Amino acid sequence: MSYVEPIELSPIGIIHCSLESREQAPRNFDISTETGTLEIFPEYIEAMDGIKVGQTIVVLCWLHQARRDILKVYPRGDKSRGLHGVFATRSPVRPNPIALSELMVTKIEQGNIEVLGLDVLNGTPILDIKKKL
Ligand SMILES: C[S@@+](CC[C@H](N)C(=O)[O-])C[C@H]1O[C@@H](n2cnc3c(N)ncnc32)[C@H](O)[C@@H]1O
Repeated sequence: MSYVEPIELSPIGIIHCSLESREQAPRNFDISTETGTLEIFPEYIEAMDGIKVGQTIVVLCWLHQARRDILKVYPRGDKSRGLHGVFATRSPVRPNPIALSELMVTKIEQGNIEVLGLDVLNGTPILDIKKKL
């Protein structure tokens, strides 16, 4: 039973990178050497002001290919660890498949932010970008 209305989100951009399959993708940003580009849609480009090369940004994405009907997983697929609730893991599988990645900014051009540390697939929608504290 839902107690609040569903929330509608619109992507502010899209990820471009060479990661085309889940198997290919690093398990998390902290072990990733993958580079790519965050394309920010024209209506949101103004919101990029202040982002600087060398800075780490927090990027929230919508894992559009993830299953949303599974609430328990084996962390990192390791059955010896037993089943864990997805809220106790960083699994992409979850009711609202929002990913949080901390990415290093390497170049900025009109509407494009080049980054290092990607762990999400080519074509993944971007929901938000925040400064890392
Ligand atoms: C464990 S998640 C971590 C994401 C983020 N750093 C976090 O902690 O929320 C990264 C994995 O999600 C999967 N993945 C990446 N992009 C995806 C997408 N668009 N849809 C579904 N699964 C995706 C890949 O298997 C990748 O290894």
